[in-house]
Amino acid sequence: MFAFILWREFRLSIAEIHNFFPKSNCLFASREIAFFDSITSEDIISNFHKIGWSIKVIEIIKELKTEKEFAPESIKLITEKIEYATGKFCYGLAQYWLSSNLFTIWLQIKKELKKENITNTRLVNKDSNNVNAAVYKKEKLATSWIELNLIKASERTFIGKTITYQDVDNYSSRDYGKSRDMDIWMLPPKLAQMMINLTWNQGNAIYDPFCWLGTVLIEALNSWYKNVYGSDLNPKMVDASNKNTYLYVENDTKINIFENDSARIERVNFLKWTSNISIVTEWYLGSVMTRWHVTEEKIKEERKKLLSIYSWFFSWLKKLGYKWTIVICFPFWQLNGKYIYFDEIYKLIKESGFKTNKLLPEWIEFQETRSWSLLYHRPNQQVWREVFKLN
Ligand SMILES: C[S@@+](CC[C@H](N)C(=O)[O-])C[C@H]1O[C@@H](n2cnc3c(N)ncnc32)[C@H](O)[C@@H]1O
Repeated sequence: MFAFILWREFRLSIAEIHNFFPKSNCLFASREIAFFDSITSEDIISNFHKIGWSIKVIEIIKELKTEKEFAPESIKLITEKIEYATGKFCYGLAQYWLSSNLFTIWLQIKKELKKENITNTRLVNKDSNNVNAAVYKKEKLATSWIELNLIKASERTFIGKTITYQDVDNYSSRDYGKSRDMDIWMLPPKLAQMMINLTWNQGNAIYDPFCWLGTVLIEALNSWYKNVYGSDLNPKMVDASNKNTYLYVENDTKINIFENDSARIERVNFLKWTSNISIVTEWYLGSVMTRWHVTEEKIKEERKKLLSIYSWFFSWLKKLGYKWTIVICFPFWQLNGKYIYFDEIYKLIKESGFKTNKLLPEWIEFQETRSWSLLYHRPNQQVWREVFKLN
């Protein structure tokens, strides 16, 4: 059994794991942690860099009767591992949702280690805070040493060892040095990656009809996709996407980025003959609105404008007989603490013959929306995103 530590947007985290490891079984999920089985540690470790919304994964070693058993169990695990170590043995400790303090636990472990005559050890997080991703990497806890975790979830207590941690450097280097001063909503690479992961097992061709700077396309090239298509209304964006994706193209990948108005999707010939081509896109979310100039009237105007492009797009897809998977972000708005959903979209999806998919395991109670979509927002932004998987 494995415990995934989740990001603040925990629904996105769970949906991503659930869709990326379709054979896995989610046993328990809360806002902070989700337990999965029917999955192997090799599978998790080799694929973890492809899933963006989990912080780290802990392999559960044992269920404990009480927290007090953690120290003796830790000693056992440290002594087992220390046999093969050279030099000072480093270990990290982490605890999740317990009343006790990590410092008290550490003192206990230290005392026990001394009793066993094991003194050549070093705790890497003496400050009583959980080890973070940077320390985990720097101290090589994954390969040479060990990080032990004490977890309390749903009244049960577990000990586990960390098997992988998110590589934070990987994400910062993936922001591609894109220009940020554009008057357009930026799609975070991590969200793009997660949207791609929702199409896992759906063939190797992908199309983003609002490709902008190519965020979705780059993430697709970094995943399993081999045929990557993008288009945008703005020729400058077509150029930018071509430049941005260039570095990620390999010998066996085909990439084609071109100019097109998505209201005229019928011009995109390959949609007619390519089988199993997923559409993954963040739609044009409308003009940027700051807290100071967003009004109900403005939102209404924006909705009308956007709905016209969206309607054309969907009616053409229907006419083309498109029947593959679409993962798509639509906007919704926040005004004076009230959420204004793009209700017309739900109707449009239905009328165009598409259905929305459940993105979280069936039994999970915290599905957030009527349509099973997932919501994503960044603090201080007025326009939020609603992510749908359709087919
Ligand atoms: C918010 S961006 C989408 C972000 C993008 N998916 C990414 O990967 O980062 C919106 C893009 O939609 C384009 N756009 C707006 N209206 C369009 C239309 N009718 N057809 C095609 N592209 C359009 C804009 O030029 C802009 O590049």
